[in-house]
Amino acid sequence: MSCELSVAAVPEEGDCPQWVAQPDVAARARLLGERFKRAYGRPPVGVWAAPGRANLMGEYTDFSGGMCLPFAHQYVTLTAAAPRTDGLLRARSLQDADESVADERLREVRVVDVAPGAVGGWFGYAAGVAWGMDRVATGRSAHPVAVPELALAPGFGADLMVDSTVPIGAGLASSAALECSVALALFSLSTGDDDPDDALRRALARACMDAENYIVGANTGGLDQTASLRSHAGETLALDCRDFDVANLPAEPAAAGLTWLAVDTRAPHRLADGQYSSRRAECEAAAAVLGVDRLRDALPEHPTDDDAAAALGRFDALVADGAPLDGDPEGVRLRLRHSLTEMVRSVRIADELATPDADWSLVGRLLVAGHESMRLDCQVSVPELDAAVAACLDAGALGAKVVGGGFGGSVLALAPADDLDALARSVCATFAEHGFRDPLFLTLQPSPAGRRIL
Ligand code: GLA
Repeated sequence: MSCELSVAAVPEEGDCPQWVAQPDVAARARLLGERFKRAYGRPPVGVWAAPGRANLMGEYTDFSGGMCLPFAHQYVTLTAAAPRTDGLLRARSLQDADESVADERLREVRVVDVAPGAVGGWFGYAAGVAWGMDRVATGRSAHPVAVPELALAPGFGADLMVDSTVPIGAGLASSAALECSVALALFSLSTGDDDPDDALRRALARACMDAENYIVGANTGGLDQTASLRSHAGETLALDCRDFDVANLPAEPAAAGLTWLAVDTRAPHRLADGQYSSRRAECEAAAAVLGVDRLRDALPEHPTDDDAAAALGRFDALVADGAPLDGDPEGVRLRLRHSLTEMVRSVRIADELATPDADWSLVGRLLVAGHESMRLDCQVSVPELDAAVAACLDAGALGAKVVGGGFGGSVLALAPADDLDALARSVCATFAEHGFRDPLFLTLQPSPAGRRIL
């Protein structure tokens, strides 16, 4: 990897705070084009980029039909691509997902051979998208209608090269950024359409979800892919995961002197394997006790704290009456309480952001309540995340919470913009006291969805 490309260089310990550089997407795209040409002996037809996401609220509720409030941030994954006519999908990456080193080894599969279990590692995320597009095109996916525009013609293939500026393993959705940039590239090569409308983007997001659920084998819920493909600059999505309808809400706190800050704790992922799936299974077990298909259906259209308490009370009464429950009763109850209260918090933040003069201190308090629920009820926090939240709040942030799936990764803070460095220094001091690795800091801007760059 040339040094121009190594933005994600691991900093020296003791050099805290370290700010992750703002990505120069145009320069990265040009360099990627050159690397593509060197590797494949011809230039790419184009370069497409798709962002990672942050999420204000609605963690671990997308698969339960809850409302999530994600925004795309400015860190993107880039895919350079050119078509083939022999049905082969070939790919190289300028990153190695595990070791953060250059790895331009060629991966290769016939598009028709992509299937669950057939493609592993990072290439599974990319190749899985072609498989997912075919499912959506032919109506075999959970997408409500077949979308023939996503069909890849017989013999369709592509050469791909990817490069990412999204920190990997930081809870900022690097996987979705990879899937979604590949999806935009394949869709454009196949149809010539560089600017898919929202309906097509929704279908492409479903194809990426299918790639992740069935080819990669991660049972995730669609929050990340939707944010990556359907976001708008300066706004957060109000994403209704019952039907993946979206509305856009202002999420730019700069006028109030605030900014979105991510603290990447760099905490090692502990026990993460299987923990996400078990949380989802517990939510499904709670829904079965309540007699609903998904937990969102246990609440009314505009839920309040009282509605959440009432649904929890119904669950307790049903269990006391001997309703069968699949799993550890205490774990299932905690996951239910997280889901219900999180769904209410999402609606409250969405209501607040929709008012002309959003009360950011209220939003901040709801973020903190969200973190507490992720810690105590969803049980996906780790000491580094809790310490980062506490340190941000002590240093003047209005709110802070773990973002995404937890078990390491990042905290999203709503912080005063005028002295971010002081806030970061105080997080560094807290981490040093605990003997944690130095964290990394990123300012996040609500950014547009994936698009063609070159
Ligand atoms: C991961 C998953 C998402 C979502 C979040 C938690 O990011 O990919 O689908 O469930 O965790 O909110």
